[in-house]
Amino acid sequence: MGERTIRIALLGIGTVGTGVYKLIRRRRDVMMRTAGANIEIARILVHSLNKERPGIDRELLTDDFDEILEDPSIELVVEVMGGIEPAKTMILKALNAGKNVVSANKDLIAVHGRELFEAAENNGCDFMFEAAVGGAIPIIRPMKQCLAANEITEVMGIMNGTTNFILTKMSEENMSFEDALAIATELGYAEADPTADIEGLDAGRKAAILACLAFHSRVTFDDVYIEGITKISKEDIAYARELGNVIKLVGRAKNTEEGIEAGVYPLMIPKDHPLAEIRNSFNAIYVYGDALDEAMFMGRGAGEMPTASAVCGDIIDVARNIMHGCCGRISCTCYRQLPVKESGKVSNKFFIRMKVKNLPGVLAKVATVFGLHKVSISQVIQKYSGGDCAELAIVTEPVREYHMRDALSLMNAIEEVKEICSVIRQF
Ligand code: NAP
Ligand code: HSE
Repeated sequence: MGERTIRIALLGIGTVGTGVYKLIRRRRDVMMRTAGANIEIARILVHSLNKERPGIDRELLTDDFDEILEDPSIELVVEVMGGIEPAKTMILKALNAGKNVVSANKDLIAVHGRELFEAAENNGCDFMFEAAVGGAIPIIRPMKQCLAANEITEVMGIMNGTTNFILTKMSEENMSFEDALAIATELGYAEADPTADIEGLDAGRKAAILACLAFHSRVTFDDVYIEGITKISKEDIAYARELGNVIKLVGRAKNTEEGIEAGVYPLMIPKDHPLAEIRNSFNAIYVYGDALDEAMFMGRGAGEMPTASAVCGDIIDVARNIMHGCCGRISCTCYRQLPVKESGKVSNKFFIRMKVKNLPGVLAKVATVFGLHKVSISQVIQKYSGGDCAELAIVTEPVREYHMRDALSLMNAIEEVKEICSVIRQF
């Protein structure tokens, strides 16, 4: 019997697509032996046919998606172009034409996941997306398969490499946010427009995807409370250190009796927590389950070859399913419809830093406002900042977010409170 060849098409050959192209060529022999088929890139969709693409076979390029869609010999479409449209329409058309799909597109999956999974299921196709969260880190497949027997109660992780790099530089080299961002940009971690990273949107998309997998209920990007790292200052980093913590941008999803909590925000984490050890551009995801107890998955969350590693893992998996005639075996696992908790109802400990007038009775006024709003104080540090000004750093016990918001808006009305400089959640 002759060798079986599985023909695939890449939609896009930018950072990730180039990595996939290289890895498929580099590992051809191993893929053949482990998947049982030769994997051949038959077509590559690009935006611009004229762009220089060193090392890429120009014969494979096309700017016409229909050439891919209408080619019955193409069994798998690998979407690595990004964005919502035209990626969404192309993926749906591919699935409806009976082609399997692998995608790295968290922006799309976090918003339109349900529609994509339904199309895959209706057509008996695979839709795989391991690279959409955590780059090279295996987390989608472990959640869907290896940990499938668990009741997952919480997922918490460092899901964005750019912000972790910035916070590491601020924490270990005493850099300002602006200087650390400039280095992240120079090293190619941050995009030309870093908004999605530093404002927490990228991590928010990943948190939404993980929440769906963890709790078997649809959580979309809009359900995730999001705060980025742009307001974190050197002073906050120094206080975190003084309190035995480090600040990390964390994505969290928790299943509670009142509904799913989903958020991304800077969090002070005790420095002996495993996530505190995750430095530079590394990502890590911590999972709590009733049978597994706790597990942490750590690795490179982005970049050409790390992301290609995850995409190619999916490609090999699809190839195996094609060889065994069992595509579409693991479809959408969201069988529940749990409510998502309003962010105001979530309880957290807080660290608050404020500048106040250094006068008798000011601390008592601040404490009274907190007390009126059910905020219990666990620690107070007062530092003299010069002139008639003192700096208060206050750590609270867990309190519902809406109580904290009410307390802070009343606090702003106290004449002796000059500025509320920071409000950061604490683990
Ligand atoms: P990229 O470097 O910007 O590459 C995008 C590619 O898609 C380019 O080849 C571009 O064509 C092509 N493309 C874009 N729009 C197109 C259109 N309308 N028609 C045809 N081709 C189009 O992006 P990337 O960094 O590789 O990211 C790709 C996906 O992987 C995104 O969903 C991203 O979120 C995800 N991801 C990326 C990373 C990472 O480290 N970069 C990590 C995890 C996940 P031209 O070359 O002609 O411009
Ligand atoms: N921009 C992301 C990060 C990588 O910095 O982690 C793509 O998901």
